[in-house]
Amino acid sequence: MAGLPEGICYFPDYFDRKAQEQLVDDIRNIVREAPFYVPEMPRTGKPMQVRMSNCGALGWVTDKQGGYRYQPCHPKTGNPWPPIPAVLLRLWDAVAGFDAPPEACLINYYSDKARMGLHQDRDENEFSAPVVSVSLGDDCLFRIGGTSRGGPTQSVRLRSGDVITFGGPSRLLFHGVDRIYPSTSTLLKDGGRINLTLRRVTTKSG
Ligand code: SIN
Ligand code: MN
Repeated sequence: MAGLPEGICYFPDYFDRKAQEQLVDDIRNIVREAPFYVPEMPRTGKPMQVRMSNCGALGWVTDKQGGYRYQPCHPKTGNPWPPIPAVLLRLWDAVAGFDAPPEACLINYYSDKARMGLHQDRDENEFSAPVVSVSLGDDCLFRIGGTSRGGPTQSVRLRSGDVITFGGPSRLLFHGVDRIYPSTSTLLKDGGRINLTLRRVTTKSG
């Protein structure tokens, strides 16, 4: 798409319908082991609007006491996160341009009314690897800003199967989800949207 900031790569329809269905099966198996939970904002403990889980060696979590962080275990069950599905490791190899695998895959579920405010992904130690993001289910209005809060923003409508990556000069751009467009996809039987975000957390040398 024309006009996106340098370092953002947008791959509309990266996954076809069959691949999307297989990914949803993978996610279903993951959340059977690592159930969605309600994350809390640091300090206030205010619940976020999305439901979260993770797969990979590390998962991104947030709660009132501990704030934003990565940890190897599910905060409610205490079990290690399930592994990242092979199809997502292949996606990373194909689009990330980074010679070490992702360690974290955050799984966000948005119901019809859920949103996510503008934020930066900056809890990682490795910013030379991009963030690789997959959309499944209903469309969303995705907003992209600059490297400081309050600057100009632009919006992209992300659809099921789309992949977008934030790398290089775009790695620390503010971004968020303004809205979900209900009933725009038949992929998820109860509607809503799933976003998968692959990230490298530690530096390559560890
Ligand atoms: C996120 O930034 O964690 C999620 C982005 C998205 O849902 O597309
Ligand atoms: Mn983010």
